[in-house]
Amino acid sequence: MRPLITEYFGKYKCNDVQSYVDLGGYSGLKKVIQKGVDWALEELKAADIRGRGGAEYPAWRKWSMAKGRQGEKLILCNADEGEPGSFKDRDILLHDPMKIIEGMTIAAYCTGAKNGYIYIREEYAHIRERFIDACESAKSQGYLGNQILGQDFDFDIHVNIGAGAYICGENTALIESMHGMAGRPRLKPPRVGEKGLFGLPTLVNNVETFVCATTVFIHGKGVYCQSGTEKSKGNKVISLSGKIKHAGTYEIPFGMTINEILNDLGGGSKNGLKLSFVQSGGASGPLIPASEFDMPFTYEDFKDRGFVIGAGSMVVVDESMDLIDYLIAVEGFFHHESCGKCTPCREGMVHIVKILDKINNQTATLKDLDKLKRVMKVMVEASFCGLGTTAPTALYSAFKYFEEDLCKNIIGWEAKNDSSNH
Ligand SMILES: Cc1cc2nc3c(=O)[nH]c(=O)nc-3n(C[C@H](O)[C@H](O)[C@H](O)COP(=O)(O)O)c2cc1C
Ligand code: SF4
Repeated sequence: MRPLITEYFGKYKCNDVQSYVDLGGYSGLKKVIQKGVDWALEELKAADIRGRGGAEYPAWRKWSMAKGRQGEKLILCNADEGEPGSFKDRDILLHDPMKIIEGMTIAAYCTGAKNGYIYIREEYAHIRERFIDACESAKSQGYLGNQILGQDFDFDIHVNIGAGAYICGENTALIESMHGMAGRPRLKPPRVGEKGLFGLPTLVNNVETFVCATTVFIHGKGVYCQSGTEKSKGNKVISLSGKIKHAGTYEIPFGMTINEILNDLGGGSKNGLKLSFVQSGGASGPLIPASEFDMPFTYEDFKDRGFVIGAGSMVVVDESMDLIDYLIAVEGFFHHESCGKCTPCREGMVHIVKILDKINNQTATLKDLDKLKRVMKVMVEASFCGLGTTAPTALYSAFKYFEEDLCKNIIGWEAKNDSSNH
């Protein structure tokens, strides 16, 4: 497979824009300037790039709406990457910052924005200087700043660092924190596309989304769409980790099966033990049992079987890991990261972690099980933001695929199950 999104990884000097241009960098921006904004939006639509931050929203639609808005607007790159198990944006920032800068610049050209911001998570603060150097170098050669490539087009990029909260990856919480407020989601509407950073219409995309867009403009939709499937076009950058021999960041064509990802790329089970499941899409994603490992990695196959691709992380778990311990780690994360703004999530996470602890200590009863299921339902239906609505996802899939492992130590569960089976 030919890597496209990550093709320039480590091949140029981040503080030397010419070394990026020599590889083919900035040919995307040049093409967009030459062929026009309408052409660019059509290319983006044909390549069908969906947001790579998790929500899978079509990029061309967001860009078109941003273009249509009047007055000053902003470009915002979400580099918060707080999802446990996800580290592909970190590798893009480290190994190919120029492609992010080119993507943000193309987005600015298409929408009429003059300023862009990147919000980098606190744990990646060491990459900040590298990114600033790349911006400075681009500016020194007329690829950023005033009159870019001799056109009547000014665009600059400003760098912000988060403070280490998972919730600040959510668009509105991220913007609140940039305003100097507590990083908590705010009510929508207005959506950030209408009223975002500094009250201005803001186009927000994930790091990989900007890089995918640049890739499409550099190579054209024809080359980009040669890989993938009809409904999931091109490639995806994934983060593979856990009990696998070769953990790392990989670019894969949509359509590879999970088995191929685990064995051909990951080298198979790290310790030769049986793999039990993969958690896809981060802590907020479902557990995919080994019986589903023949599933192709596509938006449509995942959706049909009730899974999500999200940001594209895969945490591999083998039989040495106790399921309840794993779930306690996942739900403990959400308990820690819940911002506390709304009751279903703030209180719900306390109950979920408490009941899981009781299941672990073998003191949970059927009443606890009933309460656990009610709390999960309330969280999904009534939480204010995506953190709360997705926090029980791993648990739901554990009930679906590993009910016996999850429930067998609950007092009264086996007896109840036996009687209902007869
Ligand atoms: C709790 C929560 C955390 C999120 N964290 C991130 C993140 O770290 N990075 C990211 O790009 N999007 C994250 N998102 C999604 C963003 O809100 C938003 O959809 C995304 O940045 C839009 O870019 P995209 O369309 O290119 O994916 C998060 C959403 C939620 C609800
Ligand atoms: S769902 Fe959780 S993270 Fe989201 S607003 Fe409510 S308390 Fe905060």
